[in-house]
Amino acid sequence: MTSTPSSALLPRDCRIEPTKTLIGRWDLSVLAAAFGTPLYVYDAVTLRENAQDVKAAFESLGARMSFAAKACSTIGVLRTLQQSGLDIDAVSEGEMVAAIQAGFHPEQIHLHGNCKSDRELQYAIRVGIRAIVVDGADELARLVSLARSPQHPVNVMVRMSLPLEAETHPWLQTSGTGSKFGVMVESDDETQVLGLLAENSGLRFIGLHTHLGSQITGADIYRRAACDMAQVAVRFAQHGLRSEEVSLGGGWAIAYSDGDATLSPREVANAVAEGSAGFNRVRLAVEPGRALVANAAVALYRVGAVKVRESGRIVAVDGGMGDNLRPALYGARYTAFLPNRGMEVPVGKADIVGRYCEAGDVLARDVPLPEVSVGDLICVPVSGAYQLSMANSYNLVPPPASVLVDGRDARLMTRRATISDILAREVSYSDQKLN
Ligand code: LLP
Repeated sequence: MTSTPSSALLPRDCRIEPTKTLIGRWDLSVLAAAFGTPLYVYDAVTLRENAQDVKAAFESLGARMSFAAKACSTIGVLRTLQQSGLDIDAVSEGEMVAAIQAGFHPEQIHLHGNCKSDRELQYAIRVGIRAIVVDGADELARLVSLARSPQHPVNVMVRMSLPLEAETHPWLQTSGTGSKFGVMVESDDETQVLGLLAENSGLRFIGLHTHLGSQITGADIYRRAACDMAQVAVRFAQHGLRSEEVSLGGGWAIAYSDGDATLSPREVANAVAEGSAGFNRVRLAVEPGRALVANAAVALYRVGAVKVRESGRIVAVDGGMGDNLRPALYGARYTAFLPNRGMEVPVGKADIVGRYCEAGDVLARDVPLPEVSVGDLICVPVSGAYQLSMANSYNLVPPPASVLVDGRDARLMTRRATISDILAREVSYSDQKLN
C-alpha cells in the first residue's frame, strides 16, 4: 500500500508517477528547485473546474456566485476565478484593491466585515462597489454620515445572524445567538437598522445576507437558514425595504484527508431550493471560499531534520505555522506524501512538524511515510484555502512564494517575502516620536 492521497484530494491536473509528481507538465521538484521552498503550487485547471462545478450546481436557482477572497487573496488566483465568471466577496480595503487589480469590476464586489473602518467604507463608496454588507446599527449610522448623496445612493445589504448553530469547530461558527457577526434577528439592533434604512435617502437597500460558518457537513442547516431568511425578508418588506437579493454565504465542507465528511455544492443547492419557497422575486446568492480553492493547491516543503523519539518519527520541514496556521488554530488534520517517491510503501507513521519555535507547530500527525531523509520534498495537498492568506512572519521568517501552473505554463504569483520586506516597517528610533 502506498501513502499517496486519493485523487479527490489532489489538484485535478496532478499526476503521481514513481519518481515524480506533476501538476500540468511541471515536476514539483523542478518548481521547488526554481522557486525555493516552502512553495505553494496552484493549479489553474482545478480553479476553473471548481468554479464550473459550483456554478452548475446553483444554475437552476439562478444564484449569484461570488468567491470569498479571504480564502485566498493572491491576485493570480483571483484573476483566474474572475475569468471563470465569479463575483467577489471582500472583507477589507486590501481585498478590494486586490480584486480590482485582478480584473474584477467594482460592480462585482461586495464588502463584508464586522468592524469596517471609515476609510474602508469611503473607499468602497468612492470606487462604487456593488454593495456594502452592513453588519449592525453602529456601522449603519457611520455609513449614513458618509453616504450623503440621494443622487448616488450607496447600495447596502444587511448581514443577519440567525439563531442556528452549525455543527463545526466553534471558531468556524459565525451564526448563533452569541455571534460577533451581523444583526441578530428580532433584536433591538434589527429595529434600529430598519429605522435607519427607512429614513435615509443616501442608502439603497438591496437585500439580505447570512453566513452560518465554515466546514459545515450537514445540508439541512442551509434549508433552515433559507426559511428563516424568507421571514426576515417579509419583516424588512413591511418597512418598505424589498430584498432583491438574499445571500446564504458559503461554508460547505471539503476533505483534507481521505475519509473526511464533505458537503457537495449540489447538496447545498438542493437544501437552499427547498428552503427558499417563501421568497418572492428574490435573486439568491452564495459565496463559497474554500470549496473553490482548497484542493487547487499543494504546499511543498523541504525536510531539514529527522528525529526518532519514543513516540515515533518526527520530520521537520522548512515551513509550518508561518504559512499554515490551521492545525494550530483549529486542530485541522492534513495528510502528506513524498512527491518523488509517491509509490513507495510506508515504513511507519511520522509527525511532520514545522520550523517555528512552538511545540504546537505540527503540520500533520501520524502520516504513513517511507524512509525520509534530509533534503526530501514533502507535499501537503488541499493547501489552497486559508493558508497563504493567513500566512505571517512569526520568528521573522518570510512567508513563502506561490506559483500558478496552467498546463504548460508555470508562473510565479507571489515571490517569497524577504527579511528586508518584513523589516521595512521598522521605524528608526527618531523617525516618529510624539513629545
Ligand atoms: N462568507 C462570509 C461572510 C465568510 O465570513 C466566509 C468565511 C465565507 C463566506 C467563506 O466560507 P468558506 O466557504 O470558505 O468556508 N480560517 C478558517 C475559515 C474562516 C472563515 C471565515 N469566513 C479556516 O481556515 O478554516
